[in-house]
Amino acid sequence: MNEPLSGILVRNTTPSDFPAIMQLSKAVYSFPPYWTERLLASHLTIFPEGQLVAIDTYSDELVGMAASLIIRWDDYDLNGSWKDFTDGGMFTNHDPIHGRTLYGAEVMVSPAVQRRGIGSAIYAARRQLVERLGLPRLRAGARLRGYYRYADRMTPEEYTTKVVRGEIKGMTLNFQLKQGFRVLAVVSDYLPGDPESLGHIAVIEWINEQVATPADYGPRDPRFQPLTGC
Ligand SMILES: CC(C)(COP(=O)(O)OP(=O)(O)OC[C@H]1O[C@@H](n2cnc3c(N)ncnc32)[C@H](O)[C@@H]1OP(=O)(O)O)[C@@H](O)C(=O)NCCC(=O)NCCS
Repeated sequence: MNEPLSGILVRNTTPSDFPAIMQLSKAVYSFPPYWTERLLASHLTIFPEGQLVAIDTYSDELVGMAASLIIRWDDYDLNGSWKDFTDGGMFTNHDPIHGRTLYGAEVMVSPAVQRRGIGSAIYAARRQLVERLGLPRLRAGARLRGYYRYADRMTPEEYTTKVVRGEIKGMTLNFQLKQGFRVLAVVSDYLPGDPESLGHIAVIEWINEQVATPADYGPRDPRFQPLTGC
């Protein structure tokens, strides 16, 4: 389907990938809920095109995964949780008729092979999907991974400002910013139980400029704009 990185194939998920995805989610996250066969099967029934895996073509090992659905953004509260946006991970709220937003519910890469461009390859395939479907935007919640180290000193909003300005390395958020996303807002209680983000995320947006109109752009919060040099 897509092979932008040597030795890495990004393709649609199949049921035979489920055991490796379930194992991967336990290797990546130190906290539940983990992906289960019931949830993954629901994604494939509802929106097979939106489910991607990255395969190491030398070892045939599954090294990454992304799960997406289409939502009608106005049906949701910006401050909603991951559970709200994904219907508890089942994606039964997928709405390809009225929805104009691809929602990124998951992206993960095996800890053993992170920082080798696999996440970027998965995101390239995700953006291609947005373009192929003619959707104006991709939105997601980016974990403020690493916030726990600063929580005694600053609010999640202050932390996000510093990550966007390059004053702090934000791990996951740095990755998303490199993919061309911008931050719309910071939300709490999105992922309760995440010990690294303490549940806080940045709501992020990537715009498909081929089809987006001004109304498709989310609000611009001056706190989360990168500093521009002269
Ligand atoms: C986020 C994640 C998917 C990135 O995958 P990846 O394959 O490591 O990403 P890439 O190698 O394509 O990284 C591309 C760029 O993003 C940035 N980046 C990625 N991980 C980073 C990190 N931990 N810290 C700072 N910047 C990072 C870097 O600029 C990197 O380019 P560089 O390595 O040339 O500097 C992966 O780290 C992961 O699975 N994290 C845990 C799960 C998670 O939090 N998922 C996101 C849910 S919102």
